[in-house]
Amino acid sequence: MQYVIKGGSPLVGDVVIGGAKNAALGILAAAIMSDEDVVIENLPDVRDINVLLEAIEGIGAAVCRLDPHTVRINGSAINTIRVNDDYIKRIRASYYLLGALLGKYRRAEVSLPGGCNIGSRPIDQHLKGFRGLGARAEVDHGMVVASADHLSGGHIYLDVVSVGATINIMLAAALADGNTILENAAKEPHIVDVANMLNSMGANIKGAGTDIIRIRGVQRLHGTVYSIIPDQIEAGTFMFAAAVTRGDVTVKNVIPKHLEAISAKLIEMGCEVVEFDDAVRVVCKSRLRHTHVKTLPYPGFPTDMQPQISVALSVAEGTSMVTESIFENRFKYVDELARMGADIKVEGNVAVINGVSRLTGADVSAPDLRAGAALVLAGLGAEGYTVVDETKYILRGYERFDEKLRSLGADIEQAEDEKDVRRLKLEAV
Ligand code: EPZ
Repeated sequence: MQYVIKGGSPLVGDVVIGGAKNAALGILAAAIMSDEDVVIENLPDVRDINVLLEAIEGIGAAVCRLDPHTVRINGSAINTIRVNDDYIKRIRASYYLLGALLGKYRRAEVSLPGGCNIGSRPIDQHLKGFRGLGARAEVDHGMVVASADHLSGGHIYLDVVSVGATINIMLAAALADGNTILENAAKEPHIVDVANMLNSMGANIKGAGTDIIRIRGVQRLHGTVYSIIPDQIEAGTFMFAAAVTRGDVTVKNVIPKHLEAISAKLIEMGCEVVEFDDAVRVVCKSRLRHTHVKTLPYPGFPTDMQPQISVALSVAEGTSMVTESIFENRFKYVDELARMGADIKVEGNVAVINGVSRLTGADVSAPDLRAGAALVLAGLGAEGYTVVDETKYILRGYERFDEKLRSLGADIEQAEDEKDVRRLKLEAV
């Protein structure tokens, strides 16, 4: 599927943000750790979530979708601790089932996640954490096998700040015997959300959101009803859509505190940002100004917003430097953006962006989820037509992306094939 975008209209209006995908992935894994019913609300209806739910069903847990944004999970009937290869190929975050199954059943077998298109993504810190809890954790014939005769609390120091390792270790340690101290932990809002959810199931986790997390293992986890926090990155993407199109957009159902790094950059770039209790309004009336940005773990500027800010800087006045310090291969969209007239040079992990006065529509292809969304923003701000191919990546993490953009006045349609693309372009003439 492709998006056909006619650029040039400022986006104006309100948009409601859904639940956080990356929190939901950890929370769904946590849900299987109880033998009682767990109801998750504010679940985003996106592909990565739906694949993880299939994986959870695949190991025997009961999964009942009460509505598109609510699911009831019961892990009492789980009949295998081996997670099918197919799921891990489709989404990396199936590896959260390692921590969840290891904690609950003291054994888990999940295929080793392969390389992803944003750079090499090792899992050594996950394994280090499991070993710190007294488990054996090896890679055997392409499978990660973690097992423990006695899963016990431990003192674990992460060498790299890792969102995935922090969540995986919290999951396993929640049901280990004794106390775990996890140092140099990731502090992202979704870490806090997974910890809160586990606590609502009877876990005893303190300090999530700081770099030291203390977990007192409990015997069992009970059922709960839990609502996921809003998605910081979906919100940030719409905030930058306002900036790129010189629009006026209010993102609703957000936690403004989680958006501070994003808001600060928009203000530096000349936008007006107004915070409300659970909404943020971004108004941009004139040409954006250049700035420099470096991606960092939370509370720094998120790597998942790097392509979106780079698109905005590609039309800002002056020269900007964007440093990617989390994933080495996250500039793959730059060649696509160059086709639209952007002037960007990448040297190692730094992109030097000379702002041009305007982008022009072109045929481009989404290399990954966030870069795909960023290319859509580029198309919305560009002159003429942009066709974004490989939209399947975007659907992994954005629910009804085109529909939400249309509600703000964007001219964006889905096309199934080339004939459809030509028809849409002609219709709009
Ligand atoms: C999570 O990935 C997110 N995914 C990513 O979002 C996000 O980009 C990333 O965190 C950073 O915020 C999910 O939550 C499912 P990391 P994760 O472990 O957990 C190195 C999106 O677009 N590292 O925090 O895989 C690693 O190479 C996605 O929604 C090790 O060296 O990221 C990287 O440089 C894409 N060893 C850094 O740590 C390890 O064992 C941070 O990675 C683990 C990680």
